[in-house]
This record gives sequence, structure tokens and C-alpha cells, in this order.
Amino acid sequence: MASRRGSFITFEGLDGCGKSTQLERLAGKLRETGVSVTSTREPGGTATGNKIRELLLDTRTGNLDPRAELALMFASRAQHLSEIILPALAAGETVLCDRFTDSSEAYQGGGRKLGSLPVLELHRVLCGGIKPDLTILMDSDVAASVQRARRRNKAQISSDSADENRFESENRTFFTRVHTAYLEIAKREPERVFVLDARGTPDQTHANIIDIVFKKLRLAPSKAQNVS
Ligand code: TYD
Repeated sequence: MASRRGSFITFEGLDGCGKSTQLERLAGKLRETGVSVTSTREPGGTATGNKIRELLLDTRTGNLDPRAELALMFASRAQHLSEIILPALAAGETVLCDRFTDSSEAYQGGGRKLGSLPVLELHRVLCGGIKPDLTILMDSDVAASVQRARRRNKAQISSDSADENRFESENRTFFTRVHTAYLEIAKREPERVFVLDARGTPDQTHANIIDIVFKKLRLAPSKAQNVS
């Protein structure tokens, strides 16, 4: 495994919690500050990963065995690590990744009831156990997140820009299990996982994220104050 010089920061949370927008805003702010950033996402992040992503998110895939689903998430991740994440870290880049193994633990482990053990074991074998330096868990209300994700899904279908997302059509009980699993990860690894209340305005959330990340990266706080 390549040696790490850059910082690895992941974003986690339920569908519709505003994570992707916040990640892009943070990337913009860091770049303004002169930090070299690679911003990426899972499943996906590579050409192979994007094909796997299509298969995983397309509702036409239909009934996928949870273990097959987990294996596909890790296939995408292994490729993503070797092609994008590890080389970027070795080059000293700050890598911002929208979802990582915590998503597998929350969605397949919790949501699909496979439990944490197979996820952590696959992570050890296929990803060399790499841990993010910081994970921002955007904690949001289950019902509100599901509603927002559904609205987003409908808008995407009507604009024909993407197919419906298999996960976003899950019910509230599923997302409650995902939420619980996320909070358990945060409890187990408080030094890595920062639980951020994402129910405020996007600007408040952005300011909080800047604060946490700038502290972690030891960047000057004065530069963090302008959150535009
Ligand atoms: P996406 O449209 O990227 O959702 P979001 O913007 O909320 O991240 O879809 C990714 C979906 O894949 C999301 O519903 C969570 C799910 N997922 C897993 O179930 N396991 C995983 O390991 C990963 C990375 C994602």
C-alpha cells in the first residue's frame, strides 16, 4: 500500500442530508486557501467504479442479494483506492470522499442486516484497513432525509438526468437502521468520527465543517472565517 502524506477526509450521512453540496463547498474553500484537493465519491470515482455504481443504483437491477450488494461496494472501493485515493494521498493531496466504508457498515451492515463483522473483515482484506483521518457524519432527521431524497429522486427522474436510486426508494425502517448503525460507528471511534448536527442552515453547517476541518489540518483559523 502506498505511503500516506495527505489527509483523508470522508463525508457520511443519510441520503438527502446535504453531504455532497457541503463536500463541494469545503473543497472550494480549501482550494482557495491553497490546499491541493482531490474530491471524489463512492460508489464510483473511477471508470470501473462508475459502471458498478450504475448497476448498484439502477432500480432495474431489481432484487440484489445483500451480500452481492456488499461485494460490489467493495469492488468499487478497491479500484477507487488503488486508482485514485492512495496515489492522491501519496502525492500529498487532501482527499475528500463522499462516502466510504462507514456507508457499507451503515447501509449493508445495518440497513440490510448483514452486521458489522463481514464489512470490517472485507475492509481489512480488500482495503488494507485504511482509516480516514477524519469522518464528518452529517446527522439529520431520518424522516426529513428520506423526504428530501425522494423529492430529489423524482426531480432526477423527470429531468431524465439519472435513473431512480435503489436506496432512496427504501422505507423509513431501513433508514432508521442505517442511522442507528452510523451512530454506533461514531460511538466506537469518537477520535475519527465527528457527528455534526446537519439540521441547521447550509451556511451554518458549512461554517461548522470549515471549523472542524481547518483545526484538523492545522490551517490558520482566520482563513476559515470567511465562509462564503
Ligand atoms: P448517491 O446518489 O451518491 O447518494 P448520496 O448523494 O446520498 O450519497 O447514492 C449512493 C447510495 O449508495 C446511497 O443511497 C448509499 C448507498 N451506499 C451503500 O449502500 N453502501 C456503500 O458502501 C456506499 C458507498 C453507498
